[in-house]
Amino acid sequence: MLLADAHGHDGLARQPDRFREQRISRTLSLVNFALHADDCVDSTSERAFAALRDGTARHGDVHWAREQTAGRGRRGAAWHSARDEGMYASVVLLPSEPIPPAALTMAAGTAVCAAVRELGVAAARLKWPNDVVVESAKLAGILVETRGLDPLRPHYVVGIGVNVAQREFPAELVRERAVTSLALCGASASVESVLERVTEHLERALDELERSPDRIASAYLDATELRGREVVLEMPEGELRGHLAGLSLARGVELARNGGSRSFAPLEHVRQLRAAPEEKK
Ligand code: BTN
Repeated sequence: MLLADAHGHDGLARQPDRFREQRISRTLSLVNFALHADDCVDSTSERAFAALRDGTARHGDVHWAREQTAGRGRRGAAWHSARDEGMYASVVLLPSEPIPPAALTMAAGTAVCAAVRELGVAAARLKWPNDVVVESAKLAGILVETRGLDPLRPHYVVGIGVNVAQREFPAELVRERAVTSLALCGASASVESVLERVTEHLERALDELERSPDRIASAYLDATELRGREVVLEMPEGELRGHLAGLSLARGVELARNGGSRSFAPLEHVRQLRAAPEEKK
């Protein structure tokens, strides 16, 4: 049986249909999703790492909870995880060979952005490296992690948080940055339907990543809405400006400048990629 309800909570009753279907079995080229539904956990990514540590984790496990008490984002930031207000899930990937984390971030970002657009937020776009935003307000975030560097046993946990039903956010969070939710964007969706759409798109994106990594990079670039625009690229060696001509996992960010073009790699070194501020006339 591919499906698992880890702790016997009401997850089975609430889980999206696509997980029920997988009782039958479903083999994908990269992922075979199996749901571990929980009521309240510290962090779904921590649950995924705990399963990796005790040897029970399987490729494609999805740890999903209604609430997180220690949800976390990038750079040690907390992730607002109130009960039933957001979609909090972490996917375990155990590929046979290491995958560059930037590739997984792109695949997951592209998938989450496509999912929220489909759920009615047409204005959602990607902001480097892993934010889904509407204008400048953050709607969703992705955290790809790996712990330990055994190249013979690569493992990744792709943590995904989508703000779904919040009508307001804690003041300390709003002070830090603009945030939004599907509800505030006028899209009414259940947490389960968000999980369903996100995993559906993730499945496709991971499949595509395996077949044609540059197609994922290109889809990611489209979702940033920066293709062809003048951008600022922040690398460890400094800031560069140019027109964004392309994005490739192998060659990095391609900038057209002064009649020529040059690529900047690796993508893991790209600190920021954003629209250049308009020149004052
Ligand atoms: C970010 O944009 O900073 C990444 C946010 C990732 C949040 C998700 S919610 C599910 C999973 N569990 C966590 O503790 N974090 C990720």
